[in-house]
Amino acid sequence: MGLKLINGLFYFEHTFDDIDNQALIDEIKYTKENPDRTDLDDSRPHPLDLNEEGMDMQHTFYEDVPLTNKSLVLLGDKVQGVCDSIFNMKQSVMCEEVWGHVIPPGEQTMVHNHGSNTPVGGSKNELGLSWVYYPHMPVKSGNLIFIASANQQRVMWEIESTPSTLYLFSRDILHFTPRNASEETRISVSGNCVLGSELMNVIRKDIGFKNNFWYFQGREGENIVDRDKDNGQKEK
Ligand SMILES: [Fe+2]
Repeated sequence: MGLKLINGLFYFEHTFDDIDNQALIDEIKYTKENPDRTDLDDSRPHPLDLNEEGMDMQHTFYEDVPLTNKSLVLLGDKVQGVCDSIFNMKQSVMCEEVWGHVIPPGEQTMVHNHGSNTPVGGSKNELGLSWVYYPHMPVKSGNLIFIASANQQRVMWEIESTPSTLYLFSRDILHFTPRNASEETRISVSGNCVLGSELMNVIRKDIGFKNNFWYFQGREGENIVDRDKDNGQKEK
């Protein structure tokens, strides 16, 4: 007797106490004002880059800036450490893209996910996770809201986003932040990770959906009892 999960979606949150948040905020604000600085990581398009059609190359629909190599390594290592604890293995994920958001008062982040238009998104062979980190969270500056569905039921799930907190979630889940109703420009950092080769191998063989990854991704496919095996047991 008891409730048993068929399918569901979860996110994970973790609060850090050893990140220099003000330095991160200052760096991203400076990059926004000085997009031609030369010490930026290249996992994201340069803020001034245009594609072959002369269009903006950003793929999250709003103002974002690359981080410096130093900040990318710092946050990448932090996120990897959290994921390693979730999946109980070293190098469970690799952070391949990291970028900063600059949301001035009165602005908001459109509904989007991190799974499309990226080199790894949408591919069943290269699963991953996405995340956002809030170095600060001015009051009424726009909580993170997920839009999720299971069994054709849709839910909008608002998180009371807090400073120094990392939120890990599916690359495919839609999310947005409402208008920044504070008088302060809100800064956040987002990223995408791909699963490391060891975790990927575990996931590929995980026909019973035992791994924690499925809490993020949602189950897909079949978990079918081996009827032949059961029949054999009953006949004994
Ligand atoms: Fe996002």
